[in-house]
Amino acid sequence: MAKINRTFLDLKQSYLFIEISKRISEFKKNNPEAPIIRMGIGDVTLPLVPVAVEAGEKAFAEMGVKETFKGYEDSGKGYDFLKKAIAEYYKGFGANVPEDEIFVSDGAKSDSGNISDIFNPDCVVTITDPAYPVYVDSSIMSGKKIQYADSNESNRFAAMPDMSQKSDLIYLCSPNNPTGTAYTFEQLKAWVDYAIANNAVIIYDAAYEAFITEADKPRSIYLIENARKCAIEICSFSKTAGFTGTRCGYTVVPKEIALESPDGLSSTITDANAAWSRRQGSKFNGVSYPVQRAAEAVFSPKGQEQIRSNIAIYRVNAEIITKTLSELKIDFTGGVNSPYIWFKCPWGTDSWDFFDILLKEANVVGTPGEGFGQNGKDRFRLTSFNTKENTEEAMRRLQKLMTDRK
Ligand SMILES: Cc1ncc(COP(=O)(O)O)c(C=O)c1O
Repeated sequence: MAKINRTFLDLKQSYLFIEISKRISEFKKNNPEAPIIRMGIGDVTLPLVPVAVEAGEKAFAEMGVKETFKGYEDSGKGYDFLKKAIAEYYKGFGANVPEDEIFVSDGAKSDSGNISDIFNPDCVVTITDPAYPVYVDSSIMSGKKIQYADSNESNRFAAMPDMSQKSDLIYLCSPNNPTGTAYTFEQLKAWVDYAIANNAVIIYDAAYEAFITEADKPRSIYLIENARKCAIEICSFSKTAGFTGTRCGYTVVPKEIALESPDGLSSTITDANAAWSRRQGSKFNGVSYPVQRAAEAVFSPKGQEQIRSNIAIYRVNAEIITKTLSELKIDFTGGVNSPYIWFKCPWGTDSWDFFDILLKEANVVGTPGEGFGQNGKDRFRLTSFNTKENTEEAMRRLQKLMTDRK
């Protein structure tokens, strides 16, 4: 009989969203009329921007004509038109990213998990606690040892490196899911310095870079000196341009990142770019042509204008949430450079107890912080991916809940 990969035995039950759904269903069964507002989901709520729809439709029509039909993409790494647009976008905020270091993909989730394939199982991985769960699960599946860097109140939920700890791989996410914090130039430089000192590689998830508003927060790790020697950057059109159901992202793997061969063996692959190219060549066949055309359109002046106005809507919602939390004197991070707001559960409750109270007494759904790591036990995540009306109503209910329970 086939045996399950033994690393899977070390995975924790993935119960966060299942448990949330279960609790909501139970509540709805007993309270069918309750006007529930969902403020916990990380999916966007605004549709694809019109320029992306137009470009995608046009490209699909091309696929139905003999002369313009496209089959497999030669490289599977993305069409030149899209890689050029991505490189230009980087240039726009001062980062130099050569086109041959860009790999177009179906999104940041698969890339942030799959990138683990190119690193030997004996690599020690540093992951912030709390974190996007994919980093932990994919490290476990590939048999790697994990150590945690604490994000907590004392560092305002922006974990910093522990210089006394050795590390080979480091997952960072800025702006962060779930804490909503974004690293400053100075903080990110400390991580790059740490990586260089350890000969480590940073896997930098910039899925939320388009939400950055403050000038002291870098939109890319490549704005930090020496990052090209140690950092892989993963990005996505999902939250930037509403591609969660359309699927497109990109990963930058600099050729300057050297990889050592294990156990003194010789290898023809000596850098991360060649290793990722080899991995993708075997396991990935590219993103569909219409989707790549839709993604290209996002970078046009009209596309940028349209996505900016969508992000502005989410930003207003984030402001409504942070203003309410400030008035209620509840400690929080996020909401300024991020669609996520991460706050301390009131009355000293733990995050699951607070989830139940908020659901039952205010009919508002959020995400218990514990689902993202130990340091989230007393924290709660709300998102700005909703309508303004729902966000305002949810905050009115939170205010009432806090007054009623005083
Ligand atoms: C930090 C982070 N990275 C990646 C993703 C997934 O992005 P994609 O839709 O491109 O797979 C998410 C989605 O919630 C995320 O929060």
